Amino acid sequence: MVPVVFIWFVSGPWIAAAPIVSLCGIVVVCQDYSIPEEMAKGSVVGNIARDLGLDVKRLKSGKARLFTSDSAEFIDLSRERGVLLVRERIDREALCRQTTPCALHLQIILENPMELFRITIEITDINDNSPSFKNDERRFEISESAVTGSKFVLERAVDLDIGINGLKNYSLKPTDNFILKTESQADGSKKVEMVLHKPLDREKEEHISLLLKAVDGGDPPMSGTMKIHVTVLDANDNAPVFSQSVYRAAIAENSGKGTTLTTVSASDADKGTNSKITYAVSTTMDSISEIFTINEKGEVILVGSIDYEKSKTYQIDVEANDSGGLSDSSKIIVDIIDINDNHPLINIMSKSDSIPENSQQNSIIVMFNAVDPDSGSNGKVKCSLSENIPFTITTSHEFYSIVTDSELDRETASEYNITVTCSDEGVPSLSSSVTLTLQISDVNDNAPVFERSSYEAYIVENNTPGVSIFTVKATDADWKQNARVSYILEDSSVNGVPVSSYVSVSADSGVIHAVRSFDYEQIKDFRFCVKAQDGGSPPLSSNVSVNIQIQDQNDNPPQVLYPVQTAGSVVAEMVPRSADVGYLVTKVVAVDVDSGQNAWLSYKLQKATDRALFEVGSQNGEIRTVRQVTEKDLLKQRLTVIVEDNGQPSRSATVIVNVAVADSFPEVLSEFSDFPHDKDYNDNLTFYLVLALAVVSFLFITCLVVIISVKIYRWRQSRVLYHSSLPVIPYYPPRYSDTLGTGTLPHTYNYEVCRTTDSRKSDCKFGRAGSQNVLIMDPSSTGTMQRMQSEKSILDEPDSPLEESPPSPAASLSPYRSLM
Ligand SMILES: *[C@@H]1O[C@H](CO)[C@@H](O)[C@H](O)[C@H]1NC(C)=O
Ligand SMILES: *[C@@H]1O[C@H](CO)[C@@H](O)[C@H](O)[C@H]1NC(C)=O
Repeated sequence: MVPVVFIWFVSGPWIAAAPIVSLCGIVVVCQDYSIPEEMAKGSVVGNIARDLGLDVKRLKSGKARLFTSDSAEFIDLSRERGVLLVRERIDREALCRQTTPCALHLQIILENPMELFRITIEITDINDNSPSFKNDERRFEISESAVTGSKFVLERAVDLDIGINGLKNYSLKPTDNFILKTESQADGSKKVEMVLHKPLDREKEEHISLLLKAVDGGDPPMSGTMKIHVTVLDANDNAPVFSQSVYRAAIAENSGKGTTLTTVSASDADKGTNSKITYAVSTTMDSISEIFTINEKGEVILVGSIDYEKSKTYQIDVEANDSGGLSDSSKIIVDIIDINDNHPLINIMSKSDSIPENSQQNSIIVMFNAVDPDSGSNGKVKCSLSENIPFTITTSHEFYSIVTDSELDRETASEYNITVTCSDEGVPSLSSSVTLTLQISDVNDNAPVFERSSYEAYIVENNTPGVSIFTVKATDADWKQNARVSYILEDSSVNGVPVSSYVSVSADSGVIHAVRSFDYEQIKDFRFCVKAQDGGSPPLSSNVSVNIQIQDQNDNPPQVLYPVQTAGSVVAEMVPRSADVGYLVTKVVAVDVDSGQNAWLSYKLQKATDRALFEVGSQNGEIRTVRQVTEKDLLKQRLTVIVEDNGQPSRSATVIVNVAVADSFPEVLSEFSDFPHDKDYNDNLTFYLVLALAVVSFLFITCLVVIISVKIYRWRQSRVLYHSSLPVIPYYPPRYSDTLGTGTLPHTYNYEVCRTTDSRKSDCKFGRAGSQNVLIMDPSSTGTMQRMQSEKSILDEPDSPLEESPPSPAASLSPYRSLM
C-alpha cells in the first residue's frame, strides 16, 4: 500500500496546494512547498505533520530528522510543532542566480519504521534588488560640431531580480540635446544608446549633465541611476565680430609714420586657437594698405604719407580672421585734419613790364591770383605790397590786381621793384612773395634846364674869328630822345646888327663861337639868348641869357693930347727966368683908349737939353723946374717925354716939349725963328686943315648940345671951368686911384682934361671917355687954329711926335693950340 499524501500549503499569496505524487518508491512521500525569499528567521515554511499525515508523536518517536545536501543551513525541522522553519534568511539571487525555478531539496527521515519523505521547497523571487550600473558616472567629450543622430553607447544596468522584478526600462534626463534609444537584442538584453537630436553649442553650454535611470518592473519599482557628463568640445563655429561696424578716426596730415590712429577690436566666441584673431587691412585697388597698417593688437598705424590736399578722408577696410579661416570686416573712416603746411601760391596771370610815366591813376599793371591748398583759415590768403611805392592792391576773391595809386615820375623813379607778399591765416602763418620789376617809360615832360640861370663870359678882344668862347650846357631829365638837347641861338640884335654875326652856337655841344674879332674899344659887352630844345614830340625848350664881356687888350698906345704935336708948327712953353724951383712949366696930357692897366700911364723924361733943369712927374706928367733958372740957361730947351701905359707888353708914345726960357714974348719969337723949319710946303695941308676946321666946328656945336643935356642930367659931374688970371695950366684930375680896390681900374675910364689956348683963355673939355667920347672945344680955338695955320711956317715942328701906332680918328681930331 502507498499512501498518497496531499500537502496543502497555505502560506503567503502563492499557496500552492497540489498533491504531490511520490514517485520515489514505496516509502517515499513527496511534499512541495513554495516560500518567498528573504523570509524572516523562524518563519514557518510548511506543516509537514499535517501535510504528511504524521502525528507529532510519531515524529518524536520516529526521531524525524532532515537530510539535505544543499540547504541544511536554511531550513529547520521543529518535531514538537511538526513544521519546517526558516533557519536562515534565504536570498534567492545568491542561491540560484538567474536560474528558475529555484528550489531547496530536503528529505525527512523517520525511524521505526523507517519512512522517507521527500520535500521540495521552491524559493520565489521578491523585488529586493534595484537595477544598478556598474559605474556611477560616465564622461563624454563631444565636439559641438557633432551631427545630430550621432549615437553614444551607454552602459546597461543590471537587476538581479528576475522576471517581473527584473530590469524593465531606462530613462534619460534632460532631453534637450540627447534622447535615449534602447534596442532589444537577441539575448534578451537591451542595447542602450544616447542619440544627439539637437546640435551642441559650446558657446552656450559647455558642460551638460544627464541622468540615466534604469527602472525594474517590481512593485514598487526600483531604479538605479548613472550620471553622464558631456563636455562639449569647441569647434570653430564662430566668426570674429568687430565691436563696431564703422570706426572713426582723425589724424593730422603732418603726423609722423608710426602714429597710431585708433584701435579696433574683434571678438571670437570660440575658444583657444579658434578664437585667435589676426587683423588685416583689406587689399584693394587703391593703395590704402601702403598708407595704413594694422597690427595684431588691432592698432591702426600710419605707415605712409597723408596729405590733406590730396585726400581729405580715407576709408580703411579691415578684416579680422580667426585661425579657422572665419572672418569679419569693418571699416575705419579716417578724417585727415588739415595742417597749415602749404605756402600760398602766387600765379601771375598778366603783367606789364613798363608803363608810361603819365599813366592815369588806377591803371592795372599786374593781375595775379593767390591760392592756398590748405583749408579753412589755413587756406585764407591775404596779399599786400611793399611799402612806399605808388601802387596798391585790389582784390576780388582770389584774384588780385595791382594798380597805380598816385602819379608816376620816371625822373624820380624809373623802376620799381614791386614785392607782393601773400600769407595765409594759419598759425603760424605761411607766406610767399614774388618781386616784379616795373619800368616807367619816359614821356617828354621835362624841359631842358640850363646849368645856370644866366651866363657871363669873357673874351679878350682881337680874338681870331671862330674861336670858342665858352659852352652853355642844359640837361634834360627825360630819357633818350626826349633828353637830347640842341642849342639854338635866339634872334636878336646887338647895336643893330643881328647877334648871329657876333656869335654862333653849336647845336650839339652848346659851344659858343665868336664869329668875328671883337674890339673892346668898339663894344664892351653884349647879351643874347640861347634856347635849349629837347628832341621830344612836341619838343620842350628853355632860354638862358648870355652876357659876353669883351676884355681889353693893350692894343692902343697912349695918345698925347698936349702938347699938340703938329707937323708945321712949334709949340713952346715959356718959363720966366725968374721962375723958382718947382715952377710948373707945363703938363703933358696923354690918354689911352684902352682901359685899366692898359690905360694907366706913366711919364718919363727921356731926353732933355739940360737934364738938370726939368723933371717930369711920373704920375701926372707935370714938367717942373728942379733948380733956379739962371742967366746961363739956354733960351730954347727941348724935352722928350715918353708916355708909357701899364699894359703887357706896354705901349708908349713920345712927345717933344719945347720950352722957352725967356722973360718976354718977343725974345722968344726971335729965338724960336731959329728953330729949324720944314720947308716942304704941302698944298694939300691947307685943304685938310680947312676941312678939319669945318669938322671941328660941327663937332663943337654938337658937343655943346650934348654937354648941356649931360649937365642937366648929371649935376654932380658938372664942373665950372676954372678961369684963372694966371697962365692956365692943364688940369689933370687924379683918376688913377684904385676905385674898385682890386688894383685894376674900372673898365670905363673917364678922364677930363682942360686946357687953354693961351695964357688967358681956355679951353675945351673932353667928356666921358668910352663909347661916347665927346670933344668939347672953346670957340676961341677956332681963331687960334686959323692963326696957327697962317703961322704954320713958323710953328712947324720938324720933330713930329713919335707914335708907335697911328693915331685914332679921335686923336686926329684933337684940338690944336697955337702959342701966341
Ligand atoms: C630792383 O631789384 C634789382 C635786382 O635785385 C636791383 O638791381 C635794382 O636795383 C632794384 N631796383 C630798385 C628800384 O630797388
Ligand atoms: C625864350 O625867349 C623867346 C624870345 O626871347 C620867347 O619868345 C620865349 O617865350 C622864351 N621861351 C621861354 C621858354 O622862356
